[in-house]
Amino acid sequence: MHHSISSLTRNGDALSAVWAGGERTDLPYLWLRDNCGCAECRVVQTTEKRFHLFRVDKDLKPTQATLECAGSADEAISIAWPDGHRTRYLSSEIRGLLNRPGFDLRYWGGGFQPRRFDYQRFLARDRAAAELIDEFLQTGVCVLVDAPTEPDSSEQLAARLGPVREVLFERIHNVMVDPKGYNIAHTGLAVAPHNDFTSYTWPPSVQALHMLVNEVEGGESIVVDGFGLLDGLRSDYPDKFDALCAVPVPFRIFSERYEVYAANPMVELDSAGEVRLMRFNTAQMQAVPLSEPRLSDFYDAYHELSRRVNDVGAQVTFRLEGGQVLLCAGHRVLHGRTALRSNGRRHLQDAYFEHDNVRTHLRWLHLSGRI
Ligand SMILES: [Fe+2]
Ligand SMILES: [Zn+2]
Repeated sequence: MHHSISSLTRNGDALSAVWAGGERTDLPYLWLRDNCGCAECRVVQTTEKRFHLFRVDKDLKPTQATLECAGSADEAISIAWPDGHRTRYLSSEIRGLLNRPGFDLRYWGGGFQPRRFDYQRFLARDRAAAELIDEFLQTGVCVLVDAPTEPDSSEQLAARLGPVREVLFERIHNVMVDPKGYNIAHTGLAVAPHNDFTSYTWPPSVQALHMLVNEVEGGESIVVDGFGLLDGLRSDYPDKFDALCAVPVPFRIFSERYEVYAANPMVELDSAGEVRLMRFNTAQMQAVPLSEPRLSDFYDAYHELSRRVNDVGAQVTFRLEGGQVLLCAGHRVLHGRTALRSNGRRHLQDAYFEHDNVRTHLRWLHLSGRI
């Protein structure tokens, strides 16, 4: 693709580049100096940065900036600095640095069916892995089928999802009916949609729910798009949404041996104001202190959120069979199950991973030329 810059102007603190299509990009002088890619400014072996910004004046300006032809499909910006250092950028490089990388989220409701992928192909074939991860980044959920049924075999997923994120209790969590269990999932009760380990300040951001055997009636799996719900709530009731972002809520999970406790708002935003993390776990929620000044605002908002999460119209319900893995983006997608209606063998294992590792695996597949 041709990324042509047609003119360059030196302004007070930035170069202004005008592209062939007429759009303008300002290139601040400190940015241009800071990102210099020359062998003096980089560790040649690794491409890491060696240049430190404090070494130049904060009002740094180039002594010269020119646009040169750099082959048939590119131009170069060539800059001379007061200390004699020179920096060069291809216009295609500048084009690649215009926007921060991202991916589009696709919200879904009760009519959605998570896409199903073959477990062995996901592990063995780069292209199949990329397809799954791409879907997972957009929707936050998918199902792996024809997976093994041996305990702890979800360790194999680390080859694609990155290392297991360990938490207290167990490295791979066993979920089955257990009269001594410390968690509602160890009973036969219905488990309303929630995400796990909201009691950590950084909850696990990917969860693999691996069904080893499922011979009971009931116990249907439920997933809810938490980000989709919050998007609707935010546009319907901005004030309620703000209260969910502002009021810290304590969560606690504990057994005879362990305890995890932390208080954080149910909704966390990133620096662009987009939701990046939801904490919703009714069973493990603790009392918000009475000294909280926005307590009644919070309850007004929490009531609305609780109603939306538990609305069957927002829930996708399906049966997870033995040898299937439900993969959820832990900060976004809530999971639950209906009540167990019969006795019988049912053994689920939860393994946690980190979303950054999954996302960057896809990036690595692209950059390394594997796909
Ligand atoms: Fe859970
Ligand atoms: Zn340099």
